[in-house]
Amino acid sequence: MNLTIKKTNKPLMGPLRPESDKSISQRLILFSLLTNEECVFEKISRALDPKSALIAASLFGLEYKLEGDTLITKGPGFRSLQEPSVPVYCGNSGTLMRFLMGLLAPSDIFAVLTGDESLNKRPMARIADPLKSMGAEIFSRTQGFAPLAIKGTKLKGINYTLPVASAQLKTAILLATLNSEGTSTIIENTPSRDHSERILLKMGAGIKKSGSLITIEPKKKLSGIRVRVGGDFSSAAFFIGAGLLSEKSEITLEDVNLNPTRTGLIKVLERMGAKITIDKNADIEPNGNIYITSQKLFGTTVESFEIPTLIDEIPLLAVICAAAEGETVINGVFELTVKESDRLSGTIELLSLLGRESYVSGEGKDLTLTIKGVLGSFSGGEYDPRLDHRLAMAAAIAGINSTDGITIKDSECAKVSQPEFYCQLQKLGAEIKE
Ligand code: S3P
Repeated sequence: MNLTIKKTNKPLMGPLRPESDKSISQRLILFSLLTNEECVFEKISRALDPKSALIAASLFGLEYKLEGDTLITKGPGFRSLQEPSVPVYCGNSGTLMRFLMGLLAPSDIFAVLTGDESLNKRPMARIADPLKSMGAEIFSRTQGFAPLAIKGTKLKGINYTLPVASAQLKTAILLATLNSEGTSTIIENTPSRDHSERILLKMGAGIKKSGSLITIEPKKKLSGIRVRVGGDFSSAAFFIGAGLLSEKSEITLEDVNLNPTRTGLIKVLERMGAKITIDKNADIEPNGNIYITSQKLFGTTVESFEIPTLIDEIPLLAVICAAAEGETVINGVFELTVKESDRLSGTIELLSLLGRESYVSGEGKDLTLTIKGVLGSFSGGEYDPRLDHRLAMAAAIAGINSTDGITIKDSECAKVSQPEFYCQLQKLGAEIKE
């Protein structure tokens, strides 16, 4: 469905609780397979990716009931996974497929993993290679693409320096080690999101962190846990963008996960002149409120080491920078090319529709995105987000500052992470038409 979003004179106002965290919800669902004790997850995400995780987990023996937005699970335990009799469909979710690779590699079952057109084009060798060094038997299409066939077998621990700052890769190795023989040591030179470490530790796993070293020991049994999932910062980010781009707006985002490995966008926006207030509590994961008002912003430089803390926010950040004064340079953007779509070219296409110049420089895996920001409204037109939820939502936020309006093709792809996104934007006062 095409939706058009246009600039109005009305400021965006109001409190809003973004959809629950997708990354954490997917972890909770999959990790609950590892224990045979009951788990209770309040405010589990209703987005498509976590739904795919729940359906996949049930094929491996997870029993569950949903009471409102509380999910209660009873797993088989990681030594008693059931063997699915059909290929396991991972939908659009790289997190789901990559975590399952780590979970299945040391099991005693065989499984085939497949995904949608986008997922079956994404790199899986980055996960399969270290798992194979641990002893895993993983078969793929040419160049490591899914569908994948995994025949569980005995694995040994690994000493591994992550070649990419990827929480998905890190988690696959953590999960594989739980059921292997011998400790694994992971060296993570650039920190990535640490939800897996926090949750597994709470379930009783032997994980230690010291500087850039993470060690994990095999474990006989993990405990059930009770967790309340906070709002997704990566979803909240779009409403932060909306607040910054719409004049005189005042938005409060309530109950958002504020794990510091996820909130790099706030640091960058503060450097650009944004005034964002935060209050947060401390639990397994810190949650809290974010207050935003519109501001005049200036260009900045984002360094490569900051990228993992805002990896999913870059298309949105690019839109915000396009309306800031002066140039913004974002270093280390290669990973964007292997997300749900090539988000780097998708972002450049969007910026050009907005009437802003941007270009990519560098070679190989060392790419930099430069955006020539200009204060004032954007132009507009029709945008094809390539069925990528984050590009669709970045385009919607651009629409808030577009006098001509942005028409988003296949706008419903936003459901992958935020089923209520357009309704929530409308509730804040945005003008959205079919
Ligand atoms: C995720 C990690 C990131 C992120 C993705 C979710 C996770 O991917 O882009 O949306 O849940 O661990 P990488 O680990 O590939 O950077």
